Amino acid sequence: MKINIAIDGPSAAGKSTIADILARKLRYAHLDTGAMYRCVAYAAIQQHIDLADEDALTKMLEHLDIHFNDAGEVWIGSENVSQSIRTNEISMAASKVSAHPQVRKSLVAKQQKIAENKGYILDGRDIGTVVLPDAELKIYMVASVEARAKRRYKEYVEKGMDADYETIYRDIEQRDYQDSHRKASPLKKAADAMEIDTSDMTIAEVIAYIMERMDKQ
Ligand code: DC
Repeated sequence: MKINIAIDGPSAAGKSTIADILARKLRYAHLDTGAMYRCVAYAAIQQHIDLADEDALTKMLEHLDIHFNDAGEVWIGSENVSQSIRTNEISMAASKVSAHPQVRKSLVAKQQKIAENKGYILDGRDIGTVVLPDAELKIYMVASVEARAKRRYKEYVEKGMDADYETIYRDIEQRDYQDSHRKASPLKKAADAMEIDTSDMTIAEVIAYIMERMDKQ
């Protein structure tokens, strides 16, 4: 029988990569909830909406058609935004828009609807605590700022994107602070989540660790 899996943790801890691989192994669907907040930030910037204007963002969101295809691409309407939402500028902007309770309310409702039928792996910040408090398996992934900054830097370089290690390091620290100190659903480990520190683990080791735990459940 299929279950739902919640993966939470700070920025760049590897949640999406792990969720993606797990989903393929288990034949589950992966929903990257961070991509949804990134889409809101991207659309707001395109439409010159102030990232602090909660009402304007909420209104915009009513008509924002965010969707994912089977290839894992992220689309807003007819625009493929998979690459454009991954810049450092959008990361910082997504962290800002995600602090607004109305924005969260709207996206959380969409996420809960998608995961209604089980067989989903959702990754984000509030999955185990707010979106899917009944998820059968909850994972909380952490890693040192240094390990995360190194991974992000390598990812950007491999993609041929502009990358400055110091900026990435500082931005991760700032996002950690913003995401865990906001009033609305701050980043928090669910009491029943299994914590994994991936600082010194390879992707294959993290996957093996989770699969072993799942077998024991
Ligand atoms: O996982 P990510 O880096 O793509 O997420 C982008 C931002 O969105 C992050 O700074 C915090 C926010 N976010 C959130 O508040 N809740 C989620 N479930 C997912 C992401």
